[in-house]
Amino acid sequence: MYVCICHDIKDSQIKTAMQQGIDSLESLQSELLVGTCCGCCVPMVQDLLDEHHATCPTIDAMAV
Ligand code: FES
Repeated sequence: MYVCICHDIKDSQIKTAMQQGIDSLESLQSELLVGTCCGCCVPMVQDLLDEHHATCPTIDAMAV
């Protein structure tokens, strides 16, 4: 499914990037350019990030 029409980015590409440790909006924007044009996709990217963080807690979260 396309998430970012402006940069031709699919959810699978975003999920792969997150699995590789690119797990913040800023780093996804830097790496994939997602959300850096019109910005319409940012809420959907944030949802994917929230879903990722809910299922893959960060090391900091595990240390608490
Ligand atoms: S749809 Fe992603 S920046 Fe426009």
